[in-house]
Amino acid sequence: MTIGIVGAGQLGRMMALAGYPLGLDFLFLDRAGNSPGGQVAPILCGELDDPRLLATLARRSDVVTVDWENVSVAALRRLGPPGTVAPPLRALAVAQDRLAEKRLFARLGIPSTRHAAVDSRRALERAVRTIGLPGVLKTRRFGYDGKGQYVLRSADDLGSAWTQLGGAPLLYEEHVPFDFEVSIIGARSSRGEIVSYPLNANLHRGGILRLTRAPAGSPRLQRTARVFLEKVLGHFRYVGVLTIEFFVRRGQLIANEIAPRVHNSGHWTLEGAETSQFENHLRAILGLPLGSTRPRGHAAMINLIGRMPPRERFLAEPGVHWHDYGKEARPERKLGHCTIVEASAAARDRRARRLLLAIDPQTRIMGR
Ligand SMILES: Nc1ncnc2c1ncn2[C@@H]1O[C@H](COP(=O)(O)OP(=O)(O)OP(=O)(O)O)[C@@H](O)[C@H]1O
Ligand SMILES: [Mg+2]
Repeated sequence: MTIGIVGAGQLGRMMALAGYPLGLDFLFLDRAGNSPGGQVAPILCGELDDPRLLATLARRSDVVTVDWENVSVAALRRLGPPGTVAPPLRALAVAQDRLAEKRLFARLGIPSTRHAAVDSRRALERAVRTIGLPGVLKTRRFGYDGKGQYVLRSADDLGSAWTQLGGAPLLYEEHVPFDFEVSIIGARSSRGEIVSYPLNANLHRGGILRLTRAPAGSPRLQRTARVFLEKVLGHFRYVGVLTIEFFVRRGQLIANEIAPRVHNSGHWTLEGAETSQFENHLRAILGLPLGSTRPRGHAAMINLIGRMPPRERFLAEPGVHWHDYGKEARPERKLGHCTIVEASAAARDRRARRLLLAIDPQTRIMGR
């Protein structure tokens, strides 16, 4: 069986690597032949919305999935009957637009940030008046790693925020003084089976995920996140892996966004859970039984960003799992990650702190 993947980034690459033991083959579509996925499976080179290449991908695959959520929904829609593409296109469409995401949260009774759509400077002034300061102005589409965002701390910031982002459809939302951030990752199979992983505690710096620790959060938080996850998965009759990111403030979950795909905060599941998020995504889209999400211990995942540290040094440490995506180094670019799995949360945190100091000294672990 062949899985077609639109986009050949590190997520697609890790999907392929997880799928080979199941006897699966892979075919990618990406603009660059040397992309991370293209290094481990054949690749069709061209634009991700090229109708001819997409048709070839679909013809040569049993199921088509994505490694990037911003693929053209219109182009994918032409690929064939429902079931050809997973996740469902309506989930992709919602995840591509922050305003549609907020509407979905409201409709499903999932608490989220107070927000307003902003399409003019006057609308921004109105939004700042009603929602207040500090707030975050975000592009509705194509945001990643904190790009397309401006934090407004005072009314003086309005002009430069507008200069920077005005012109694209925007959303203004309250800035949440969160205690910490978590995400929940789950899978729903085409047979309707649902599994979820324990909560991930995520630490960002400069809008980019730096560190994830899991399992995290109280049993109550875990239960609530699972309920919200089931609502979203059920709403879309979703197929595949989906992630919801939350802020946690005073013990309450406030939804930030959804990602209709495997997620950076779930990379620890490769070594830290019985079945990885990548394998469960493949099982889900093929209608296979989903694998156990039980954690094998207390995991921490550190992103390797901008520059790969010398691997000899870290491979010399027992239990450090190293992942190099084979990408060219560039400032702020995610080039790889490493994971540890320890017997206790305390041992995990001690080690994570030490590794972080060696890899990314500017990121500090705070309380969670
Ligand atoms: N309203 C907010 N209040 C406080 N912090 C915020 C807010 N919005 C975003 N942030 C911070 O910026 C990070 C990135 O924001 P967000 O998840 O909206 O953007 P993104 O670019 O889609 O990120 P990614 O796709 O990498 O998850 C958040 O995880 C959080 O740390
Ligand atoms: Mg995010």
